[in-house]
Amino acid sequence: MTQTGSMVELSLTFPDFVSGAEKSVIGECELEGRSVETEPLLNGVPYKVHRQSFDLERRQASGTFFTGSANARQVAHQLHEVLPGGGLVMDPTCGMGDLLLAYAEHLPIEATLHQTLAAWGKQLSGFDLDADLVRLAKARLVLQARLRGGFDGEIDRIDGVFPHIRVGDMMQAKDTLGEPNGFLFNPPFGVVRDVGECAWSAGSINAAALFLAELVRHKKVSAPISAILPEVLRCGSRYAAFRIHLVNQGVWGSYKSLGRFDAWADVDVFSTLIVPSPDGKIWDSGVEARNDLRVGDRFQVHVGAVVPHRHPKKGAWHRYICAKTTPRWCDGFEPKASRRFGGTVFKPPFVVIRRTSSPSDRNRAVATVIVGNRNVAVENHLLVLLPKDGEVESCRRLTQVLASDETNDYLNVGIRCRHLTTGIVAQIPWLEPDG
Ligand SMILES: C[S@@+](CC[C@H](N)C(=O)[O-])C[C@H]1O[C@@H](n2cnc3c(N)ncnc32)[C@H](O)[C@@H]1O
Repeated sequence: MTQTGSMVELSLTFPDFVSGAEKSVIGECELEGRSVETEPLLNGVPYKVHRQSFDLERRQASGTFFTGSANARQVAHQLHEVLPGGGLVMDPTCGMGDLLLAYAEHLPIEATLHQTLAAWGKQLSGFDLDADLVRLAKARLVLQARLRGGFDGEIDRIDGVFPHIRVGDMMQAKDTLGEPNGFLFNPPFGVVRDVGECAWSAGSINAAALFLAELVRHKKVSAPISAILPEVLRCGSRYAAFRIHLVNQGVWGSYKSLGRFDAWADVDVFSTLIVPSPDGKIWDSGVEARNDLRVGDRFQVHVGAVVPHRHPKKGAWHRYICAKTTPRWCDGFEPKASRRFGGTVFKPPFVVIRRTSSPSDRNRAVATVIVGNRNVAVENHLLVLLPKDGEVESCRRLTQVLASDETNDYLNVGIRCRHLTTGIVAQIPWLEPDG
């Protein structure tokens, strides 16, 4: 990296950038006109160089997506609030240190750079598998201390500072996880296919669940975790056993939606403060239990049974619908396509809803009324809602309920991840727009 004032040349690959950043903070520093808010090394530039140096596939495999400053500050702030006396704080998957940097912004500056780094070094700890990221995290923390304290002198070397920020695997560090008084946490979100022995899951699972379970298992009972996590952990039906597992470990977690992680990671996330509690609840979305009528009182909710790439075209001929070819918001679509299928089929009239939608979509539950006399095989990207009274008119009234702002609000609070579940759809309040 070459640095002139606040300009940074981005033509270097990541390891060159790291050593350049390191050199620039251990040597004498020109501080005039520079600040924590505007300093490129403390803001988006290292992440930008990382993205330019490694392709998306590699970044997804390593889980190297780093927290932007607004979210990092929110997560740091909620930990400071419950740790007013400080203590040792760890980010066990620290990356290039964005959460640690946000936390350090509220640590006091001592009389000299060495004293400041010594004091911060006793309070900040972390692991990352990637040695370059660890060095960069340390360099950025040193630079923050310099800018806040106005310290322009040299320091010996980067290895000598922040002894508790180390290269290491948090999954192999159970004793060390028992030491900190609090945690900052944004683990990798990739899918892990072989979870081995795991009481609360089988098959593939989001890595964030494994990392969080490991941390909750080994941390001090009293140590809070301030985390950013993917929404699927909070509302995915496949993670119900995981949530029960956390509750059984005696923890409670607050919930604040953060929306999409950032422009490069299309994952909806939330922030949470996980603290000890005997309450038996986690990530309560704020959706109140209501006694009035629900969609599930009038409709049976199923998932379409056809998985096109898995099911052979065998069995009887049926009409066939899939998410791509079914028009949206049609109140009487009669399928014309057919296929052979040996599994469950549905007799019209019924309503289908696309299973995948995003909180940023105009409507979360996009519906179509299916009519006709022939049984229909339905692709599994669609949910099927069968009216208990068998009436097409009930189906049309359901589409009005689903199109309403109330339903959008309900689903956006209740289920921020992309897949609608049969459970949440059955729970949608039956509120017709005209009362
Ligand atoms: C999503 S990034 C978050 C980094 C940082 N906490 C932040 O919020 O910006 C996850 C980091 O975990 C690291 N990582 C992956 N597996 C790890 C493991 N087993 N132990 C420690 N770090 C790991 C990756 O290298 C990556 O830097």
